Amino acid sequence: MFLHGTSRQNERGHLEIGGVDVLTLAEKYGTPLYVYDVALIRERARKFQKAFQEAGLKAQVAYASKAFSSVAMIQLAGEEGLSLDVVSGGELFTAIQAGFPVERIHFHGNNKSPVELQMALQHQIGCIVLDNFHEIAITEQLCKRMEQTVNVLLRITPGVEAHTHDYITTGQEDSKFGFDLHNGQVEQAIEKVLQSPAFHLLGVHCHIGSQIFDTAGFVLAADKIFEKLTEWRETYSFVPKVLNLGGGFGIRYTEEDEPLPADFYVEKIIEAVKTNAEHFGFEIPEIWIEPGRSLVGDAGTTLYTIGSQKQVPGIRKYVAVDGGMNDNLRPALYEAKYEAAVANKLNTACDQTVSIAGKCCESGDMLIWDLEVPEVYDGDLLAVFCTGAYGYSMANNYNRIPRPAVVFVEDGEAQLVIQRETYEDIIKLDLPLKSKVK
Ligand code: LLP
Repeated sequence: MFLHGTSRQNERGHLEIGGVDVLTLAEKYGTPLYVYDVALIRERARKFQKAFQEAGLKAQVAYASKAFSSVAMIQLAGEEGLSLDVVSGGELFTAIQAGFPVERIHFHGNNKSPVELQMALQHQIGCIVLDNFHEIAITEQLCKRMEQTVNVLLRITPGVEAHTHDYITTGQEDSKFGFDLHNGQVEQAIEKVLQSPAFHLLGVHCHIGSQIFDTAGFVLAADKIFEKLTEWRETYSFVPKVLNLGGGFGIRYTEEDEPLPADFYVEKIIEAVKTNAEHFGFEIPEIWIEPGRSLVGDAGTTLYTIGSQKQVPGIRKYVAVDGGMNDNLRPALYEAKYEAAVANKLNTACDQTVSIAGKCCESGDMLIWDLEVPEVYDGDLLAVFCTGAYGYSMANNYNRIPRPAVVFVEDGEAQLVIQRETYEDIIKLDLPLKSKVK
């Protein structure tokens, strides 16, 4: 069993996170319950930032809040000096409500609405990452109307796509995001942006993928961008102040995953940017990165109560828990794999293999296939590890199941940061039928 961060087995054979026995958490807050190891989030945030500080470089480490957004989480990111990547009005609203410093907010998205853009401009956020020509046009109009200017980055697709252990270079990028680096679109965009008094063009952004275990893709993306920068310097006298290389740093979900340390990714990115800057005669730009999963993924654990079991003779045993694809869509959506343990029986030998089923009316609602566990009974507590990223944030109410609560644990204390949804919440937006039947 691999235990992340402050997770450990205590003297009672129970799982403890942040110095708190998870059985007490389950008892107090109920299950399913998301538990976040705050010390681990802080450690990661500091590691990313320290790597830039040690290199003496100006940088921003922006937490990609799509991984897990809540008022408390955003406040934690603020406390740790991170910047913030938001991708919707809802994520922006959360950040504003959390009191996050607006100048450190970056707004992403391939179809930001005029209302969302207006909200971003009203709050004078740090920058908008312009994604397409439509957005350039509407943002420019809004700026004119609101008599203000805005810092922007241009999102480009560099023709590098990274998947886990390998990356592929694609000639023509087939992506809904950004301006293609090689078909002339990015130059058109630069011209439009530079001509407009509405925009301060800070630089360019790219994001090459997610759950990446290799640095080669980032290096290649930097190489490709710098080749273009030399052209743009000549043609437009444009020299970027900022180079944002996105997120995507991989984490360990199971033993199949071999992540690199956070600072290693940063070191390699710095090296690639420095080498290119020196080679082409640029000052080293500010480097921005946008980790989501690698800041919060392995800091999250979901606690479930075990309920029914079904033995299919000669085939498998299903053990069902009180959550599933509602609170963690990733196994159903991506066949994502997780490790788990019976939190109240960590010191009992695992002598059977079972499959963990969710409670939704759908055969595909399986959280884990083939997990080694001890003998389990209803009421036992299953802890699924590494659920901190894209778990709660993709949670849903399928089958009208309320979403779980979320607690933060640190230094032996727990605090509720998202309340459990209630059945009243479930029907809160429903309106009664205006019946036509006489
Ligand atoms: N920046 C941009 C522009 C992104 O699109 C993303 C993720 C990130 C940063 C953060 O990537 P991370 O460091 O978390 O890998 N729902 C999927 C992941 C979707 C990622 C979308 N973009 C999952 O559960 O695996």
